[in-house]
Amino acid sequence: MNDTLTTIFNRRTIRAYDDRPIDPKDLELLKEATLRAPSAGNMMYYSVIEAKDQTVKDKLAVFCDNQPMIAKAPLVWVFLADTQKWVNYFHEGGSVARGIAEGTATWRKPGLGDMHLCIQDAIIAAQTAVIAAQSLGIGSCYIGDIIERYEDVRDLLGLKQYTIPACMVIFGYPKNPGNNVELKKRSPASSIFMTDRYRDLHLEDLKTAYGPMEEEMRRHNRLPFGNTGSIADYYYFRKYSSSFMEEMNRSTKAFMQHWDGPEETLG
Ligand SMILES: Cc1cc2nc3c(=O)[nH]c(=O)nc-3n(C[C@H](O)[C@H](O)[C@H](O)COP(=O)(O)O)c2cc1C
Repeated sequence: MNDTLTTIFNRRTIRAYDDRPIDPKDLELLKEATLRAPSAGNMMYYSVIEAKDQTVKDKLAVFCDNQPMIAKAPLVWVFLADTQKWVNYFHEGGSVARGIAEGTATWRKPGLGDMHLCIQDAIIAAQTAVIAAQSLGIGSCYIGDIIERYEDVRDLLGLKQYTIPACMVIFGYPKNPGNNVELKKRSPASSIFMTDRYRDLHLEDLKTAYGPMEEEMRRHNRLPFGNTGSIADYYYFRKYSSSFMEEMNRSTKAFMQHWDGPEETLG
């Protein structure tokens, strides 16, 4: 074990924060550590919007399926997949005109591959921030619901055609920094890691994969049907069939269609 592994092994999601703001020195380190994340071609294909204005935080809390902890979090970062800045640079810096004049490249609008690469960049940066935060004693929580209500999020944050929310993380010093809190169980490595080819998992494999979590949830009386249901029942009825998942799918389709649709005028 070393310090880095200790940081990784002790990280857990923190949702309740002390009121005090993030120390400016810690914030600086957090930003610098985030920038060290690997990046496709080192293009830094992402941007991060820090929501500082309380009204922006309040709206994000509502847009993200009404999670009040977002409004209260000392630090709120929305990680954007950002091809827009390169589109602007290619055009404004003259590369597009040069390619056309010299007959070496015609302009193509960003595709879904560009989008995917930017999303990877943004999420890798986010996870780098999460681990750096943990090492500084700062707790964090991803907010998956940032991919809901695309139109509202886009208007609130002034997003352009080729900037989409990849993920969101809220940070703060833990309100209850107990060390002996139980870490959530995970699948065994043998259920996740595969060799050479995809292994299609079926019932018995899946019971092995999710058994530790099912046992944990049963212990906490969290399973449906009076705690007699399975973990599959839990995710199927509470998450997969929920209205928030329906909205997530609608919203994701909307931002993908906007990105992949007719090109908007720059500016
Ligand atoms: C992509 C993603 C989205 C998440 N969205 C939320 C969220 O909207 N609200 C929340 O309270 N936790 C959210 N979480 C935190 C997970 O619930 C948490 O990571 C998981 O239960 C495992 O717990 P642990 O991080 O403490 O190990 C999210 C985590 C990830 C990776």
